[in-house]
Amino acid sequence: MSQYIPNIPTSCLAKKVVLITGGANGIGSSLVTQCLESGANVCIGDLDNISGERLLKKCCDQFHPEEEDMPPRAIFQTTDVTNYPSLLALFDLAFKTYKRIDHVVSAAGIVEIGNWFDTSLTLETVRQTPTHKVMDVNLLGSMYVTRIASVYLRHNRGSNCDRSILLFSCVSGFKESPSLFIYQASKHGVTGLMRSLRTYISSPYKHYLRINTVCPWVTQTDSIKKVEAQWKRAELPINTPEQVATVATGVLADQSLNGMSMFIEGGRAWEIEQNINRLETEWLGEAPSKVLALGQGLLDDGSVWTAPERPRKKSTISVGVPPGVPLNKINGLTNGVKHVISDGVTHGMSNGLTNGVTNGVANGVH
Ligand SMILES: NC(=O)c1ccc[n+]([C@@H]2O[C@H](COP(=O)([O-])OP(=O)(O)OC[C@H]3O[C@@H](n4cnc5c(N)ncnc54)[C@H](O)[C@@H]3O)[C@@H](O)[C@H]2O)c1
Repeated sequence: MSQYIPNIPTSCLAKKVVLITGGANGIGSSLVTQCLESGANVCIGDLDNISGERLLKKCCDQFHPEEEDMPPRAIFQTTDVTNYPSLLALFDLAFKTYKRIDHVVSAAGIVEIGNWFDTSLTLETVRQTPTHKVMDVNLLGSMYVTRIASVYLRHNRGSNCDRSILLFSCVSGFKESPSLFIYQASKHGVTGLMRSLRTYISSPYKHYLRINTVCPWVTQTDSIKKVEAQWKRAELPINTPEQVATVATGVLADQSLNGMSMFIEGGRAWEIEQNINRLETEWLGEAPSKVLALGQGLLDDGSVWTAPERPRKKSTISVGVPPGVPLNKINGLTNGVKHVISDGVTHGMSNGLTNGVTNGVANGVH
């Protein structure tokens, strides 16, 4: 296990600009406060304009800009993360007000609505299209936020300036959660989005941004009303929103973290991605792990998927190589693959985790 202990020196986010969706309530609002306490300016976007305006007033009463002609330390705009233009308007507001954005947090989320797999469904009632709001808010919203962030975070950036994206996944993003059918699918999607981007987005030749997820377990907010009493009776660990926000602030402030997922229970955080990769031969088996490494090595950073389609010629390349891969690329990769076989370690998987990611994660008992 790898415990992650957030290191948050005072002013660790001094003068940074942090944009947070879902920042009006629960964990998001605690994160807004902690970012302000750590010295950042914060742009809050949320559908709930009443709580958002209330929080904004509280923040502006408590936190003041260094000089009078500077913009306020916090701004709020009513935002629907499922609406692309609405999100663009939020990023525009942050950029116009502070001239740059340093970190983006996608915290907006909702829990399961109804029961997609209700056993009382009939041939008649199954004809009604079910709601996909949970998917839209949790997954599509995170995808929209990440896409827009990947562009805005690159602008007005000084040299050696750290920029990052933090996505809110959940325990349901990696662990079976019976009856949270659509919620679990959406949070697995969020974790998958981070995994698909962690090598690509962090490359100095691409976006040069960090991306991570937090995966809280039960946290004391309105979202857990249905299980709260039972959970407390069983004396199971429960996070406060502030504890989750502390982990999130630590991940934002730690330049060495990329491609990580922090499971948070009872206020303690545990990094899971490195062990999933490190122990692959144990949970998958040595032979399948080796063959998987071959494919991963060949696909490398995935450029083959995003390369523009070229007219197909008769291929002179041997079977097993995806069409469109340049020859020099294949030669380079072949070497890489041999290397993987010789030491039996899935180097392909560690690509996204090479930027000194172990800092702050104490590798204790495995
Ligand atoms: N509370 C938990 O136990 C728990 C556990 C794991 C993960 N999470 C995740 O943490 C995040 C925060 O959860 P929370 O418990 O603080 O929830 P919360 O309900 O207290 O806060 C969520 C916020 O998202 C906003 N929101 C909802 N739909 C929106 C939309 N379409 N556009 C913009 N904003 C929208 C809400 O208005 C609210 O302010 C969520 O992504 C949630 O899935 C929570």
